[in-house]
Amino acid sequence: MAKQKTTPRSIILIEPSLPNLSGFEDALAKGWSPDPRRQTDRAYVEAELVTLRHDRAGFLTRLTSGDVIATSVSDREPQRLVLRPFWIWDGEFCGYITFRHMPRTGLLPLHLPGHVGYSIVPWKQGRGYATQALRLLLPIAAQAGFERISVICNEDNLASRRVIEKAGGLLHHAGPDPSDGPDTIKLFFWLATGSGL
Ligand SMILES: CC(C)(COP(=O)(O)OP(=O)(O)OC[C@H]1O[C@@H](n2cnc3c(N)ncnc32)[C@H](O)[C@@H]1OP(=O)(O)O)[C@@H](O)C(=O)NCCC(=O)NCCS
Repeated sequence: MAKQKTTPRSIILIEPSLPNLSGFEDALAKGWSPDPRRQTDRAYVEAELVTLRHDRAGFLTRLTSGDVIATSVSDREPQRLVLRPFWIWDGEFCGYITFRHMPRTGLLPLHLPGHVGYSIVPWKQGRGYATQALRLLLPIAAQAGFERISVICNEDNLASRRVIEKAGGLLHHAGPDPSDGPDTIKLFFWLATGSGL
């Protein structure tokens, strides 16, 4: 069922830092899972909270440093994924949006579905925040040299589909993706960043 609408407010994207990490921490403590694929995984959320509280600086570094990717996508040397995470902020922590890509290429490692990941904490959903955040990410992707980015959602994730379409995403195909099992149908969208206009 669609979330109830509240008056739209503006959000900004801010870079995660030690002073604002407590917003993320509070959301974990309320049971929010930052991983859309593990939304009901209480053990994962609790483990994340323990890790954060044990080593705040280390947790932040992990959030902002991409994995080193063995070259399953090209013949190049192993590379570190570029991650640009942002908190979605309306005066409080609302969720995150992350732009990710391989350095100097539009390609993605096989385990990652699309150039963008996002999640809004349940108590801030239905206010247009994810749509605003995706729109705000486009100039950041353009600045990184992208004319268009790939954004993917599960076929049954109607809210995410709506977010992508409202931000200008054009569906180019549907099907399984290596980032998930063969039974999960994903929708693949291209989203123009505006840099080629
Ligand atoms: C998907 C998600 C990011 C949307 O965040 P949000 O801030 O609530 O999204 P917005 O308010 O910007 O827009 C949601 C749109 O989807 C619509 N929507 C919400 N739930 C819906 C549903 N069940 N069916 C159809 N449409 C739905 C809303 O009505 C709104 O469209 P509208 O403005 O035309 O009415 C949020 O639900 C979330 O974090 N989900 C869990 C993580 C996730 O799925 N991430 C995306 C992975 S691809």
